[in-house]
Amino acid sequence: MNSAVLNLADFSAALKTRYLGRGANECHEEIDSTNNRAAVLAAQDAASGTVVMARSQSAGRGRQGRQWVSPLDGGLAFSAILRPNLPLNKLPLVTLAAGNAVCRAARVTCGVELGLKWVNDLTAQGKKVGGILAEKPLKALIVGIGINIRLNRDELPDEIKDRVDWLENLAGMPVDTNLLAAALCQSLEEELDKLEEQLYQAVIDDWKRNSVTLGKTIKATYGGAEIMGVAKDIGESGALIVEKTGGEIVELSAGEISIRMADGSYC
Ligand code: BTN
Repeated sequence: MNSAVLNLADFSAALKTRYLGRGANECHEEIDSTNNRAAVLAAQDAASGTVVMARSQSAGRGRQGRQWVSPLDGGLAFSAILRPNLPLNKLPLVTLAAGNAVCRAARVTCGVELGLKWVNDLTAQGKKVGGILAEKPLKALIVGIGINIRLNRDELPDEIKDRVDWLENLAGMPVDTNLLAAALCQSLEEELDKLEEQLYQAVIDDWKRNSVTLGKTIKATYGGAEIMGVAKDIGESGALIVEKTGGEIVELSAGEISIRMADGSYC
């Protein structure tokens, strides 16, 4: 078997976790969306830590109904079924924890330093490298993570061509998708452990160190309304604290908000 291709045998051999990735995992050559499949398995009481991965997705989804492009072996499409022991108001911190986890997995696997754009984007030099889609169907929390590993710019839709990057381009070397997936399970488990031990601020502080949003002047769009101000801090439940032009402090929670830099650029 070609070890560069995502497969359960090589993934499991590299795994160093207690429970994450230790369920009846699935790895598909193609699927509509790993988050959709994970929700089906969760409804059938799949164990917490079960992982669904795919070499390609035909209907990969991002936040706010956006499409997530997943060509064959172009990246990691990963969804974990989780049942974290967390109060409801701390659930938004799981997206921040997952961001920290992807940063650490990319660092240890291929030496790439990614940045975190609030709330769910993984970036490098102003381009998007990955994203997180946490969803709460019945009976579980699904944490979906997409990471671009090797894309062909000529084959990407025009609207994202110049706005994305990928790990092999940034690392200047091949990246083993199985090792990346196993490292991601380890770092995600470590981050979830911190949340369950109520070390919420440690997760927030780590996110702040990885952040490319804090300190920047941003425009936030919510419905039709636009807010402009400086991204100042992260609140106790993961909200973005913004000082509006004029001094008023507002807390933005993820929901339907999208963020741009003041000049309209992505990050
Ligand atoms: C975003 O950038 O808005 C989030 C993108 C999340 C993409 C991942 S790929 C694995 C999982 N399955 C999906 O359909 N979406 C997530």
